[in-house]
Parts: sequence; structure tokens; C-alpha cells
Amino acid sequence: MAEPIIIDCDPGVDDALALLLAFASPEFELLAVTTVGGNVAAAKTARNACLIREVAGRDDVPVYAGATRPLVRDAVEAGDFHGVEGLGAVPARTPARGAEAGDSQRAIVDLVMARPAGSVSLTVVGPMTNVAAAMASEPALAGRLKQVVAMGGARREGGNITASAEFNIFADPHAAAAVFASGVPIVCFGLDATHQVRATEAHIAAIEALGTPAGAMAAAMLRFSRQVERDVVRGTDAPLHDPCPIAWLLRPALFELKPCRIEVETTSPLTMGHTAVEFRSAQPNARWAVSADADGVFALLTERLA
Ligand code: RIB
Ligand code: CA
Repeated sequence: MAEPIIIDCDPGVDDALALLLAFASPEFELLAVTTVGGNVAAAKTARNACLIREVAGRDDVPVYAGATRPLVRDAVEAGDFHGVEGLGAVPARTPARGAEAGDSQRAIVDLVMARPAGSVSLTVVGPMTNVAAAMASEPALAGRLKQVVAMGGARREGGNITASAEFNIFADPHAAAAVFASGVPIVCFGLDATHQVRATEAHIAAIEALGTPAGAMAAAMLRFSRQVERDVVRGTDAPLHDPCPIAWLLRPALFELKPCRIEVETTSPLTMGHTAVEFRSAQPNARWAVSADADGVFALLTERLA
């Protein structure tokens, strides 16, 4: 029985890898891809999702465009890390098939409420604006979902967009706070886990050697991220954030999770978007990924891109 999932994302090079992994995994019944403004503007993230879908040959999966700005704060982007068009050095072009009519929040509510309670996993690997707005528009949504599987936040690692905050949470802290307070079961992959999953030159070469369109696109984007890591972060191997939630859904044993309570800073200018991840809480609201098997994640990604 395939696992029904929705992927909400802001492609984004690592979002693209997450989508390519999901598109190539028969374990999933991919109900929809929904997009949100984040790494680049909303029109570009929607176009990019449709382009990635085309390369993967998955025009059977509908794409719905969503929020163009965060719930409360001003919009921020991460073009430095993803290129002006959002797909690194992969040229942007108009996909043969664009996004569906109708917006992502409506699609999320309709798709989840039409399914048995506790059956749909909503994976969110960008700002949580669409998820929070969908929950606000349908109070029964949080209770109807099986779980939210998110990429976002940081505890041990500190921030990647400010000293205190990780980009997805920083980009819409009010949305994240609402989702963490909603009561929906959450599994959260923050920088503590994703910084353990870094694309080495050998990993990239193995993906490039596949000779498939998806492999070529993935390798091109991984090389772009490697260049950014060197130029912007002064590092070497670039972390692979967004495929982690997808890899966990496919192979949970690749990650170690710990129950915790996650609260989000939504007022301090200095620490806006900080995730306070408390393992000692008596009221846990999530499970936090504390470790990842990087080689296992890359083996899965390479296997599926083939
Ligand atoms: O901090 C990493 C996250 O921010 C990833 O989802 C990446 O795509 C960017 O959106
Ligand atoms: Ca993302």
C-alpha cells in the first residue's frame, strides 16, 4: 500500500533533489507538490517544481502554487545559495506543463480531508506558510494528518541565515510557531541532522555517472551547491537538507530521532526564527533528528536517481 504524501517546497536546489528522490520512489502515492515563496520568489518556485517534475517524467503529479509572502514578517530569500532562478546553474525555462489552477492551501485541505484520518504525511521543506494557512482555514486539518515531516530549525548547529536561525523557520517564524503548536505529530530534520549529510566529490561523481536526466540535473545542482559552500560559507562539502525528510519516510533507520518540545522565537529582532529544542520537556510536540547516516542517504538517492 503506497504511502500518500504531499510535498510543500521552495525549489531551491536541495528541494529539487528531494523532489527527484520522491518522484523516483514507488513507495509514495504523491498526491501533490505544493510550492511557496522562499529560496526564490513564489512564481519561480512553482515554475521550478514543474521543471523538476518534467525531468522526472512525473506529469501525473499536480503542482499547486502557494504563498507569495510570509504570514507576518517581510519576505526574505536565499538566492546566494540557489542562484537567481533557484536551480543553481541549471538554466530556467518554461515547463511544458505549468501549475494547476487553484492555490496550494486549498489543495492541501481538500486532498487531506478527502482521505482517511491519519493517512496523509505532509512533508514541508521550505517556509511553513502554506501549512499554517491551510491549518488556519480548516481547523480539522491538523487532527486529520498522519504527520508533518519538516526540514527546519537548528539546536546544536546554530543558524545558517543568522547566528540563531535556520532559513525555513527564519523566513516565516509565525507560520512555524503555529504548526509546532497545532498538535499535529511532527518529525523535524534541522541542521543538527542535515549538516551530517554532505555531498562529497565522490557522491557527486557517482550520481553524474548514472547517465540519467535526473542524475545529470542532480549532479549539476550538487556541484553548484559545492561551489557556494566554498565561496559563501568557506566550507567544502555542501549539506543536503531537503532530501532528509524524504529519505526518512523511505528508510527511517537512517536517522535517530528524540522526543522534544520545539518553540519558535517570533519577536526578538536578534534571534527571530530561533528554534528552542527542549529534550527535557514534559509536553513534547515533536521528534528531532539528532543523527543521520550520510552514506545511507546518498546510497538511497543514487539508487533512486538511476
Ligand atoms: O536551511 C536549509 C533550508 O533552507 C532548505 O530547505 C533550503 O532549501 C532552504 O530553503
Ligand atoms: Ca527548501
